This record gives sequence, C-alpha cells and structure tokens, in this order.
Amino acid sequence: MEKIVSLCKRRGFIYPGSEIYGGLAGTYDYGPLGVGLKNNLKNLWWRNFVTNREDMFGLDAAIIMNTKTWEASGHVAGFTDPLADGQSFNTMFATRVGAGEEAQTAYLRPETAQGIFVNFKNIVDSFHPKLPFGIAQIGKAFRNEIAPRDFIFRLRELEQMEVEYFVKEEEWEKYFMKWRELILDYFTEVGLIKSSVHELEVPDGERAHYSTRTIDFEFDFPFGRKELSGLAYRTDYDLKQHQEFSKQDLTYFDEENKIRFLPHVIEPSLGLDRILLAVICDSYREDELGGEKRTYLAFNKNVAPVACAVFPLLKNKPDLMNKAHEIYQTLKKENPHRSVVFDGSGSIGKRYRRQDEIGTPLCVTVDFQTLEDDTVTVRERDTGEQVRQKVLDLGQIL
Ligand code: GAP
Repeated sequence: MEKIVSLCKRRGFIYPGSEIYGGLAGTYDYGPLGVGLKNNLKNLWWRNFVTNREDMFGLDAAIIMNTKTWEASGHVAGFTDPLADGQSFNTMFATRVGAGEEAQTAYLRPETAQGIFVNFKNIVDSFHPKLPFGIAQIGKAFRNEIAPRDFIFRLRELEQMEVEYFVKEEEWEKYFMKWRELILDYFTEVGLIKSSVHELEVPDGERAHYSTRTIDFEFDFPFGRKELSGLAYRTDYDLKQHQEFSKQDLTYFDEENKIRFLPHVIEPSLGLDRILLAVICDSYREDELGGEKRTYLAFNKNVAPVACAVFPLLKNKPDLMNKAHEIYQTLKKENPHRSVVFDGSGSIGKRYRRQDEIGTPLCVTVDFQTLEDDTVTVRERDTGEQVRQKVLDLGQIL
C-alpha cells in the first residue's frame, strides 16, 4: 500500500486533504490524474446505466435534505457505530441551516439513495415511466466514521454511484440477479481482474435495517479482502416510510391492471472511491523492461486518465517539435473525450517511464521518418513494443 499511496501523491492522483495544515483524517483531494480516472469511471457508469438504457432517469439531488428525510429513512435512529465505552454514536454529519434562533439542525446525506426516494413522485409525474424503471445518481455522501483508514477505503467524505430500481414485488428476484450481472460486467469493463472480486451473501442480522437480501462485492485489497460495493433488496421500506412521514401519496398507478401500490426496490450501490482504489491496486505492476526496473499502472484503456502521449524524438529540432505539436493538436481535437498530452522534456526513455507510471496505454513518437512519410512509432505500455503506423490511422488506434 505504501508504494501505491506514494505513487498516487507523487504523480498527482490523490493528495491528503488540507495537507499544508497537517491534513484532516478521512478526507483526500483528487489531483489532475485522479480526477481524470474518476471521471472516466463515472462516465462509463453513467453511459452503461443511464444513457444507454431506456428505463433509467438521471438525478442530481441536494446534499443537505430536510431532516425529516433521515427520521423517515431510519438514519436518525439507527445510523450508528458502537463506541468502545458502550455509548453508540450517530455517524451522520450534523450542520446548521439558517442564522441565529431560526437555525435548524440538518444533516449532510450519508447515502445518495434518499435523494432518489424523495424524488420518486417527481419523476413519475414528469415522465410517467412504466415499471420496472430506475433512478440513478452520482454524488457525495458523508459519514463521520469513527476510524477512517486504509487510504481512500474508509473516508468521511466519499462519492457514491447509486441506482434505485423500482419493480413489482413479485419480480424482485429476477431484477436482483440482473443487477448482479450488470455490476460484475461494469467491474470487468473498468479493468478489475475477475479473480480479485468475490461475492458475499450477507447473513441475517448483519444487513442494513432496510434490506432483506444483500450481496456484498468484495475485493482483495493489499490490506485484506474488503467490501467494494453492495447490491440490496430494499423492499418497499423507503417509499413506505417516506409516505408515512411526508403524508404524501407515493403509490404507483399500474395502468394495465388498474391498481395502486408501492413498488419494491433493488439497489446497486457502488462506492466510487473504493472502485478507483481497486482499479489502481489491480493495475499496479513492477517489472523489468530493456534491462531497467520500472513501475507502471496497467490501466484498462477505458479508464486510463491519459489515453495517449505525443513526443518529438528530439526537442531541439524545430521540425520534429512542430510536427509533433501538429499531430498532438489534431488528436486532441478529434478525440474531445480522451485526454491526449504532449511531452518534450527529458530523454525519450524517461518520457516512456513517466507515462508508464501513470498508466498511459499508448505513446506516439515523431521522428525524422515522420517528416518523410507521415508515419510515427506507437509504443504499447505493457509490452514496450513499438510499431510504425500512419499518422492518419492514429485516431482509429486511439
Ligand atoms: N445506499 C446504500 C448504502 O449507502 P452502504 O453499504 O452503506 O450502502 C454503499 O454503502 C457503498 O458506499 C459501499 O459498498 C462502499 O463502496 C461505499 N462506502 C460506504 N462507506 C464508505 C466510506 N466510509 N468510505 C468510502 N466508501 C464508502
């Protein structure tokens, strides 16, 4: 872990939160490459579970919610951790909303899910979706963990990617199993090695208060096998609670059968920080290439924060510099959703090592032959193999 934490800081993936003041336990700041990796993980999730489907609705709800939300959801009474001396401790972060005597206690949301439940009626009224359908949200959640630890594994400020998928009660098992497959597919797509991910059927007495079935997806982190994400069958618990506390009718009208009922819910809940950490841990490699030791991140090309680096072979040759710049600008323009960088400093070997260390899958080098026949060398990160390619084909290779 030490090597991973150090690489993350040195190369601009993840910094300790408020570092110049000695840090703040359980908080981390994502640097430029960390943000790139995070955005790729988020975009892939959003594309898979929202944009590419016809039964999903995206949402971005407020982090601070009416306190009744948390009374209804059971978090005020039950979102607690045991303390050593026998007192239990509510792990929601309390804050004050408003000024002076008017000020009221509110909580930073400990899960994004409740923002979805309180908007269930809005989505139904705006879009009239047929069951089954889902509402998806990516956003921050806050937990005043008693013992934050293991780098970004247990945080006080974290990010979740959650879906609440609304189904007819009799169909819950079918959709639970479908979401199980979809979660595993997502893990494969972001490059997690299949043998590092394990499923745990959470036994009675250990599930969250709202769940009657939970599968935890666990991952072999360097500090042990730990929870990566969860899949829960939340029944109609949340809608029922919000209906009772808000006195609003949250039932769904089934046009076909002319009946009203509260849908049941399947919830795939993915912790973004934990997935990002798992991706980094699974990608971390040390080997020897061309007689030299190297460290590299074997990121899947779907998530690598830098998709491609462009180099001039020599930086003191204006023709090479200009041609490399021209190719770089074209690739950038033609691939607006992928990060392409330019590097002209240090020896070519050093530039390759720098890109390997941050997991860049491809490096394009512009040399004297490029000026004659418009071809470049394309080097593959894991093997170090180089092939000659036409500049015109680069877009496709990327
Ligand atoms: N809405 C359901 C829910 O919040 P959870 O199991 O408490 O369920 C879901 O959290 C996921 O959020 C976890 O599987 C994990 O990936 C992530 N998570 C929870 N607490 C975390 C923490 N303190 N730091 C980082 N990630 C956390």
